[in-house]
Amino acid sequence: MARMTSSYCDSSHVHNSLREGVFCGVVVVSSTMSDSDDDVPALSAHTLAALHQFYSETRTGPAHTGSASDQFAVGAVEEDWRMSQFWYSDETAAQLAEEVVREAGAGGRIACVSAPSVYQKLKQGVVEGSDRVSAVVLEYDRRFATYGDDFIFYDYNEPLSLPASVAPQSFDVVLADPPYLSEECLSKVAKTVKHLSKGKVLLCTGAIMENHAKQLLDVKMCSFLPRHNRNLSNEFRCFVNYPSRLLSY
Ligand SMILES: C[S@@+](CC[C@H](N)C(=O)[O-])C[C@H]1O[C@@H](n2cnc3c(N)ncnc32)[C@H](O)[C@@H]1O
Repeated sequence: MARMTSSYCDSSHVHNSLREGVFCGVVVVSSTMSDSDDDVPALSAHTLAALHQFYSETRTGPAHTGSASDQFAVGAVEEDWRMSQFWYSDETAAQLAEEVVREAGAGGRIACVSAPSVYQKLKQGVVEGSDRVSAVVLEYDRRFATYGDDFIFYDYNEPLSLPASVAPQSFDVVLADPPYLSEECLSKVAKTVKHLSKGKVLLCTGAIMENHAKQLLDVKMCSFLPRHNRNLSNEFRCFVNYPSRLLSY
């Protein structure tokens, strides 16, 4: 009865507290119901309490707290594990934003695919040169629609279902961070990336995806180590298909 695995990351305390089999990035639901309940999954009170606890621990603060740049702070939108959301640390978001600005060049266009923190960092006005590039965020989470025309709804399950206004091969740099560590997810995201990209691709995902990433996008693993606000249980890496500073950081 339990289903859905392919976890992205987790904090060990979550696993410890959720013995009935909850998630991280994806939920593993263990039903407490009998077979006669026709396979409808349910959570026990214990699991629900643990979920509530985890969920409240993932809150990163108020969404909007005053100044214009707060609106673009990493964490202005709270992480929601149900969408496999694990935000980069502020430093990593800044380092990745610096990288895409450098590689896009003045007047360049950047697509952040399932990587809203990098988009936010580009817009925060703290990265040199970020005022000379344009950026969009392709996201499944409609809370990011608060960013207006820069927000493009995106579901990796429909990799080429994009608005007509998004021209093929129109982005100088495409940075993607797929929500799940599976070949299926990565191959679909790779379709989107190839559709959008003029050439330069920066992929952020688990190290275990290295071979698939190489096959699908011809990318190499960087020595740069991206960090998250929460500890991930999987080793996480960046991959590039161009001669990047991140390769030997
Ligand atoms: C592992 S997180 C990457 C976020 C990145 N670390 C950051 O800080 O910006 C995966 C992202 O995929 C998005 N996502 C979840 N479900 C998705 C779907 N069906 N299609 C596309 N993106 C999805 C989440 O909202 C989340 O932003």
